[in-house]
Amino acid sequence: MDSVSQVKQALNIVDVIGKYVDLKKSGRNYKGNCPFHSENTPSLMVSSELQIFKCFGCGEAGDIFSFIQAIEGVEFPQALERLADLAGIVIEKKNFDPDHELRKVIYKINADTASFYNHLLVTHAVGKPGLVYLKEKRKLTGTTISDFKVGFAPKTKSWDLLTSYLLKKGYTKEQLLRSGVSVEGKKGLIDKFVGRVVFPLRDVSEKTVGFTGRTIYDSQPKYLNTSETLVFHKSSFIYGLDRAKLAIRKEGAVFVEGQLDVLTSHQSGFLNVVASSGTALTTEHLKILGNYTNQITFCFDPDKAGRSATDRAVLLADKFGFDIKVALIPSKYADLDELLRADPLEAERVLRDAVNIYDFYISYAMSDNDATSSEGKKKILAYLAPKVSLISNGVTKDHYIKKISAQLDVSEDVIRDLVAESSVDIDEKLKSAVVSTGLDSGTKVLIEDYLFSLLMKAPIDLANDTVYKLDASVFTLENRDLFSSLKDYLLSAKDIFSIKQFTETIQDEILRKRVMDLFLFDYKADLLDNDKVLKNELADLVSRLRKEALRRELKTLSDQIKVAELGNDSQKVKSLSQEFTKLSKKIKEL
Ligand code: UTP
Ligand code: MN
Repeated sequence: MDSVSQVKQALNIVDVIGKYVDLKKSGRNYKGNCPFHSENTPSLMVSSELQIFKCFGCGEAGDIFSFIQAIEGVEFPQALERLADLAGIVIEKKNFDPDHELRKVIYKINADTASFYNHLLVTHAVGKPGLVYLKEKRKLTGTTISDFKVGFAPKTKSWDLLTSYLLKKGYTKEQLLRSGVSVEGKKGLIDKFVGRVVFPLRDVSEKTVGFTGRTIYDSQPKYLNTSETLVFHKSSFIYGLDRAKLAIRKEGAVFVEGQLDVLTSHQSGFLNVVASSGTALTTEHLKILGNYTNQITFCFDPDKAGRSATDRAVLLADKFGFDIKVALIPSKYADLDELLRADPLEAERVLRDAVNIYDFYISYAMSDNDATSSEGKKKILAYLAPKVSLISNGVTKDHYIKKISAQLDVSEDVIRDLVAESSVDIDEKLKSAVVSTGLDSGTKVLIEDYLFSLLMKAPIDLANDTVYKLDASVFTLENRDLFSSLKDYLLSAKDIFSIKQFTETIQDEILRKRVMDLFLFDYKADLLDNDKVLKNELADLVSRLRKEALRRELKTLSDQIKVAELGNDSQKVKSLSQEFTKLSKKIKEL
């Protein structure tokens, strides 16, 4: 058996997801609050029988592998590796990685280094200056220090406190150099970080990939970063993501300039704050963040450098389709860290009132063109209209149209037309034939979907009675195959509906997926527990379905009548109209 099947067999999705989400049994499935978006009523459904999950709120769905990929922001191989670990299964590395062993050693050295420096900082006398610096000058609490495993690299005569400790532990000089914690000195290896508070750089899976050290003695440079190693690539590293990822999924990301900004933010309860490390924002950063959210707020320093970093970041993030905001720090503060320490309430306001990117776009377009000439106005609107058309919230859209109109002195109607021209039609299909269901989330779904989902949960006899009354022709074209398969299966099924067996009868991949989704629909407890209530609901659905089918027929007839009228075929118009009247009566009787 291949490792994927092995892992699948060894683990139950309910346990795996249960590690992240509080799951409660609901009928034949489990449900809980979705970790991928913010919600108070659970819409994450997990099926033990099918070993799949789906959130009916945000649409995230899949099996254990996709769950781990999504929640940890990793690719399939890493997800497999982690789940194999969890299941206690050893998987063979398909691609031989020549650096595999060294990579593992570097991770170990980094972990040992983080523990060593943290130990010195928190418990040892030589850590005192570091602790005083962090607690008194930077106002960090013990909890923050331990959450981020901050450490201290003391200044000693020989500059080799860590190096000699690690050599004694058995690592070789070459390994220490390759990990970047030691560097070549005049008389042999010395520590890279000396006289600095040290922040371990942890990746999303909480592995320490490198370090940043901030001097506490005004040495240069102020911050020192691990150079590129086999495991540390600063252009793709996001500081704080290991602790921020869940909050980012729910609230979007706040991107700041420095490590200390991240620490202070988290300490003040802003858990979605991250930073790059020793580099400006890169496309790699954005790709990674894109795994978690499409909402990003930039909160850079209010100085000139910060402003131009913001401009750059916004243009970059825009290319990646992020929903972008800018949090503007009052210029009397140097950065978010300082603002948070000086005036936490103001900081909260700044983050909460982050300026929407559309305001940014407007001022950007205005500053780039002559807003008083008609040529300039045209250019500005050509740039802004497509952007405004993408705003999904009607109130926000209206707000910006009015704003642009006022600022450009162009009528709202003209702007609305331009915006409408560049907008895309929404799929109207879902708007027809929806039914308010007994689904626990109170959501509306298509009648046919609702019926299918109930038939899979109802007692077999009742389900059989119901399908017996129905003909495939009352379903819309795309559902006729599903109805026939379900009918066939129900006729042959004994005692209980087995979703596994049923899905095995379906050849079409897409259809099979849909059936699984339908099986995950959740209902108010009393619907499925009470046969009488369920019976009524099914009967009601059957009659609504028939009505829908007749309504479709009516629509076809009225189209035919129109055609006949256009062709002046009065004979045909007459007969079709009679049919139309008959059908209308039938609907009323149903
Ligand atoms: P800043 O100079 O704005 O530092 O650099 P800061 O965060 O306000 O630092 P404090 O408050 O004085 O301690 C922002 C970020 O740029 C990187 C670091 O990651 C820092 O957090 N940086 C800065 C370096 O990599 N090297 C430097 O010498 C300075
Ligand atoms: Mn600062």
